[in-house]
Amino acid sequence: MKKDTNIISAGRKTEFTHGVVNPSVTRASTVVFNTVAEMNHALKNRYNNTMLYGRRGTTTAFAFQEAMTELEGSAGCALYPSGTAAITSAILSFVEAGDHILVVDSVYEPTRDFCDKILAKMGVETTYYDPMIGADIGKLIKANTQLIFLESPGSITMEVQDVPAIAKVAHQHNCLVMLDNTWSAGLHFQPFEHGVDVSVQAATKYIVGHSDVMLGTATATEKYWPQLRDNSYLLGQCTSPDDLYLALRGLRTLSVRLRQHQQNALTIAKWLMQRPEVETVLHPALSSCAGHEFFQRDFSGSNGLFSFVLNKGTEKAVTALLDGMQHFKMGYSWGGFESLILANHNVQSLRSVTQWPYQHALIRLHIGLEDVDDLIADLAQGFERLNHYC
Ligand SMILES: Cc1ncc(COP(=O)(O)O)c(C=O)c1O
Repeated sequence: MKKDTNIISAGRKTEFTHGVVNPSVTRASTVVFNTVAEMNHALKNRYNNTMLYGRRGTTTAFAFQEAMTELEGSAGCALYPSGTAAITSAILSFVEAGDHILVVDSVYEPTRDFCDKILAKMGVETTYYDPMIGADIGKLIKANTQLIFLESPGSITMEVQDVPAIAKVAHQHNCLVMLDNTWSAGLHFQPFEHGVDVSVQAATKYIVGHSDVMLGTATATEKYWPQLRDNSYLLGQCTSPDDLYLALRGLRTLSVRLRQHQQNALTIAKWLMQRPEVETVLHPALSSCAGHEFFQRDFSGSNGLFSFVLNKGTEKAVTALLDGMQHFKMGYSWGGFESLILANHNVQSLRSVTQWPYQHALIRLHIGLEDVDDLIADLAQGFERLNHYC
């Protein structure tokens, strides 16, 4: 089955949908049984789409979990109330005191903070590594290295990692490979075909796609799924059926939305490359982005999220650029239908083992589904305001 067909049909079983197109929103804490036999049956089949207790999920969750499992090609999908909860719970599911983990230097800031502020307290040591390290990751693996965490592309600086090269070395040392796969939304990068063992996503972004739900997912291979599932349950992770309903609804249009995000973003990225105010454009589909060759080899498409670096401008000038935007709003997220803009004046503060080579501000854009001409006009006026101060 082709991906576009799969995304429409995945998880749409009659037992979840009762003969209509979408599953009903089944809210429950208590699931009731009339006989001991019925209750024992539910207990025995609790991992097999049978309701037992609300925290374990209802049919709305089962439909979404099946869809995500199929989309990423995994053995199962655990659900969390945010992408960050997915990352932290998935890591916690596989480490113990005395372990060492390797985390990419371009990682999402809260993932780094979790490692530095919580894992460290528990006796789990973190070493950060260059996103471009590839097979040289082997030089950083120690006897107690349990897990290697990747995020590809990095969500601010956009480096694309050589996932198969890292996974190959990791597996030679019995290390688990965990990937933050949010950027690809599970559609444009197939984690398990590239050696990943556990794939986490902030479904908050493109899966939900409408900027109105917080949600996380973690999928795993056959080998790691039972441990991920059981530990997530022990950590008390559960999600609202209303949110899952919206996520499943968002998922159905993921492919068509991403196509438009991709087309708009590439048009704007190429326009930015011609602008005199721009030092470089960091878009995985362009050769100016670190790891572009891995993007070309491993990904089937891109989306609306990328960054560019200015070649001039004080903080005041950049603020003038941002403040007057008509269509681009400032927001700490991405993946919805709307365009967003953010400036970062100190990328170096987000990393600890690699040197950020640029001097001026980085601007991260999320290109939405608006008409691309309106977005370009908005950015052009922004550059005029920037130039006014330079
Ligand atoms: C790459 C990446 N991973 C994880 C997250 C965390 O997701 P959430 O905000 O749902 O906790 C984000 C959020 O911005 C992100 O960009």
